[in-house]
Amino acid sequence: MSEQILFNDWGTTYNKCKLWRNNQYTDRVILQNKVYEITQKDVEALQRSFKDSTLETGIFTERYIDNHGLSAHANEISVQEGAVADNKYKLEVAYRNMIEHLEAEFDVSILDDPSQWKIASAIALLDQADAGTKLAEMHKEIILDKIGFGGVYIRNRPHFDIVGNLKTLETYMTSPFTACVVNVGGGDSKVVCVSKEPVPETVKRTPFGGRTIIEEARAFVYALTSKPVRETSEIQEWLIKYGDAWGNAEPRTEDWRGKTLEIEGLLNTVEMLFATSKFPATNGKQSLTEIVIDSLEAAHTKGKEKFMRHAAHCILLTGGGSLWRGVAERLKVELEQYFPDLEGEINIIRSPDPQYSTLNGMINVHTTLKEKNREIPWETR
Ligand SMILES: Nc1ncnc2c1ncn2[C@@H]1O[C@H](COP(=O)(O)OP(=O)(O)OP(=O)(O)O)[C@@H](O)[C@H]1O
Ligand SMILES: [Mg+2]
Repeated sequence: MSEQILFNDWGTTYNKCKLWRNNQYTDRVILQNKVYEITQKDVEALQRSFKDSTLETGIFTERYIDNHGLSAHANEISVQEGAVADNKYKLEVAYRNMIEHLEAEFDVSILDDPSQWKIASAIALLDQADAGTKLAEMHKEIILDKIGFGGVYIRNRPHFDIVGNLKTLETYMTSPFTACVVNVGGGDSKVVCVSKEPVPETVKRTPFGGRTIIEEARAFVYALTSKPVRETSEIQEWLIKYGDAWGNAEPRTEDWRGKTLEIEGLLNTVEMLFATSKFPATNGKQSLTEIVIDSLEAAHTKGKEKFMRHAAHCILLTGGGSLWRGVAERLKVELEQYFPDLEGEINIIRSPDPQYSTLNGMINVHTTLKEKNREIPWETR
């Protein structure tokens, strides 16, 4: 049988996935990274209505909840806040949840005999090298020991982001494989400077990202309509088309469920990435520019004076939150203001496919190795 692989970029809000089977890749899919919880309170509430309820507390996959008709009693919960799952069991359920969705989407069975499959997973990069190793170990334990896959390959996201965009980046790299990767994700925004490998001291993050902006935009619509906003695809579309990272959006109206809304205030929520003090949700938090400055300054240490220049010359902007207009431009202007010495030397390169940048990098690695008749260096037990 030919190789069977699950590729997965493990995001706070979304998992981006592809399968390789029958010698070809499936389409890519994006799945919300969440699981379902039934708490003691849910059980007690049910027991009050039905005396002999046998509902059990715990964390479950969506398939389990649906199959057992429990959707009215379960609560959607995030798998992780920020980069790290707070609970190993929850992470395992989240892996199973993702796999079950892929099984349904592509009509394959993986969990029947996981030893026939391998997983390549891209995970967060942490500022402490040993914390990163611990996190990778936790993922490996779940994949190999708890679920029983036949192999695993785990690396940090910036590695794949660079590999996936190497053709574009090569034009800007003044030193081989040296760049600064800025990822505006759903859960948080993070930066790291890479010199062949990511340098742990240069990992900087600020605890908000795309999801915070969407929440604010959603609240904006709610304030105007007094109707809760469940679907955010239109809001997402407006932000991508007309959002403004400078906070200077033109007056604009859009139709929303039969109402005409003036939405420039909504479009300006993108400014949150830069002018954090203007918004309650981000007040007191570092801005995107501030964490990039911190990262570049951490790169500029004794013995590495040129590292910062090389990194600033090749700043890759990725993550779903970088889709919004003006983010790259404002970041560049603010960095140039802060580093007058680097004028004309700072380049911000927008990943052409930012939300899938990491997944694309993983596929690249696999394809390139295959062309050379080599394999991904899988780990097994
Ligand atoms: N068309 C879209 N579909 C989904 N998300 C989008 C879209 N356009 C912009 N976004 C933004 O991208 C964010 C998700 O980005 P991404 O998938 O890179 O995050 P993540 O990988 O889940 O999070 P993290 O990197 O923080 O772990 C969403 O919060 C949303 O604000
Ligand atoms: Mg991500």
